[in-house]
Amino acid sequence: MYIQRRNRILRKNSSVRSLVAETVLTPNDFIVPLFIDEGENIIHEIPSMPKYFRRSIDHTITEVKDLYSLGIKSVLLFIKCKDELKDNTGKEAWNKDGLMQRSIKAIKDAVPEMYVMTDVALDPYSIYGHDGIVKDGEIVNDETVEALVKMSISHATAGADMVAPSDMMDGRIAAIRGALEEENFSNTGIMAYSAKYASCFYGPFRDALDSAPGFGDKKTYQMDYANRIEAVKEALMDEEEGADIVMVKPGLPYLDIVREVKNAVQVPVSVYNISGEYAMIKAAAKMGWVDENKAIIETLTSIKRAGADLIATYFAKDAAKLLQH
Ligand code: PBG
Repeated sequence: MYIQRRNRILRKNSSVRSLVAETVLTPNDFIVPLFIDEGENIIHEIPSMPKYFRRSIDHTITEVKDLYSLGIKSVLLFIKCKDELKDNTGKEAWNKDGLMQRSIKAIKDAVPEMYVMTDVALDPYSIYGHDGIVKDGEIVNDETVEALVKMSISHATAGADMVAPSDMMDGRIAAIRGALEEENFSNTGIMAYSAKYASCFYGPFRDALDSAPGFGDKKTYQMDYANRIEAVKEALMDEEEGADIVMVKPGLPYLDIVREVKNAVQVPVSVYNISGEYAMIKAAAKMGWVDENKAIIETLTSIKRAGADLIATYFAKDAAKLLQH
């Protein structure tokens, strides 16, 4: 048999495969979401996210040091707000002594090189578990944007390197960028959750922060998963409004969107490999149905291949360790 082109030549052994690999995962690609709780000496495993924890600030610091020593450069902070501090204005979100603000300071004091990003949305602070202010059953856009601006400035004041609005209100990137400029935070970045879909895969995250919507769903602000062109529109608008990084979320079921957005924008694209994606791999691994370590690396490599420059993932620490061998 005569074959002019034998594609298997480049797959012959691991040496040649690594020579021609188009996508190489490194710890520099990762953003680590951290769940932070009030109190001291608290490490609480999230039931629907096995081996993932919500920690008090002291343990968070230990974890951040650990992550940095593994080559991870960035964390994304989420806090669990006490019930008595929740309301319909979200005002605890810009309390200068709030849990988020104290966490930012503590992390920047302990590991100044760690790039600290913060979630900006009202859901952990909302009695309704919605990302914005609720009026007559509606999540009102413009008032919410005003709250998100206050929240962003408060995070920047506490020392956040980058704010990450995950709320999907219209016009918030321009408003936040404008306010950061006015307040002289010219070095504070914005990672916009640009194409964030109304997804059932956020369930475990809402367990972690006790932030499930109290009524209805998030479909009037988060995107319809039937849509693709709309994701490009959102990403281009956020880029235009001043976003430094645009995000697609969730990850795995949306890799077509990742590529589409990557081809359209000129800023880095991040992808959020979300809680439900984490839970699915953990569950299948527990049943013995997939090899967990292989599933982690294959998943993250696929997300990067699709076009992600950065990946927010609960697997970051595991992956950083796996990549060392
Ligand atoms: C809320 C927010 C959510 C996530 C990040 N920020 C949940 C939601 O929109 O309901 C989900 C992250 C995950 O599932 O891992 N603004």
